[in-house]
Amino acid sequence: MNAGILGTGHYVPERVLTNKDLEKIVDTSDEWIQTRTGIEERRIAPEEIDTSDMAYEAALSAMENAGVTGEDLDMILVATVTPDMGFPSVACQIQERLGAFKASAMDLSAACAGFMYGMITAKQFIETNTYKNILVVGVEKLSKITDWTDRNTSVLFGDGAGAAVIGPVSDGKGILSFELGADGRGIPHLHQDGDYIHMNGREVFKFAVRQMGDSALNVVEKVGLTKDDVDYLIPHQANIRIMEAAREKLEIPIEKMSKSVHKYGNTSAASIPIALSEDVKAGKIKEDELVVLVGFGGGLTWGAVALRWGK
Ligand code: ACO
Repeated sequence: MNAGILGTGHYVPERVLTNKDLEKIVDTSDEWIQTRTGIEERRIAPEEIDTSDMAYEAALSAMENAGVTGEDLDMILVATVTPDMGFPSVACQIQERLGAFKASAMDLSAACAGFMYGMITAKQFIETNTYKNILVVGVEKLSKITDWTDRNTSVLFGDGAGAAVIGPVSDGKGILSFELGADGRGIPHLHQDGDYIHMNGREVFKFAVRQMGDSALNVVEKVGLTKDDVDYLIPHQANIRIMEAAREKLEIPIEKMSKSVHKYGNTSAASIPIALSEDVKAGKIKEDELVVLVGFGGGLTWGAVALRWGK
């Protein structure tokens, strides 16, 4: 039994915070932010919209796209580092709202690699024929843990949610291979310190450039394919320079790489599923194409999959 993507969806808050807006808050410039990160603007959720609200909207949209209802769901996995509260999980909060009462539900913490961890966890339950429809959501309200006086971090992040329904697909389609990893020795470089994100940007950058390229190539080689076989790349939308490094390693043309970092910034666990959902809606991913998804994040964590698009 192969596991693949049955439907995708996303949600981003309406409020746009531009680089020019940030110039009024911290000592930075639109030019600095664009050259160093590729980010032009990001979305910020208002007080009354919390993480579970965004997760719910993205989930609804993915379920509609997959043609499933709450009653069809066997499991809900929510990847986030910014839950509404310590417990209950965001997964349980949305289970109630979706009326998915036969589904097991839990949150998963792997920072920006969270959606990859979620997808690969879902794959295990599908391939063992345990579950049929698993909702995986990547969601963050990073604005809650952003220090708006720190120019090193406040220019990078945004809020949003993306989701996918994972289920059985026909032979040769779906997730062909994966890679997951973690290295707790990297905690000093990227962690939550008190209320806020603390980051050693240069160290994270060096790690990410190496890891994104290596993991992307590894998942392709694991199934006996080469970089020439890759049709589309969806990297974690952290920084355009890091994304470019992964693209160069796979030697694929620029139009074959997903890019939304300019409009949403780094939305952590939500970045890959938002990109995927937008690309699916725009018709950028075609039946039978080989798609590589790759992410990295605080932990340090990383994950990648190679998948053959289609059901
Ligand atoms: N505006 C203007 N100047 C700034 C800003 C800013 N917003 N931020 C930093 N600077 C300054 C620094 O203070 C530094 O000045 P100095 O040389 O006088 O000390 C100078 O710009 C250069 O800083 P660098 O760190 O060399 O800049 P770099 O080219 O490395 O870019 C960046 C910084 C964008 C943060 C980069 O390192 C990066 O993208 N790192 C990875 C970040 C990332 O992807 N994190 C993911 C974490 S997400 C998660 O898991 C929740």
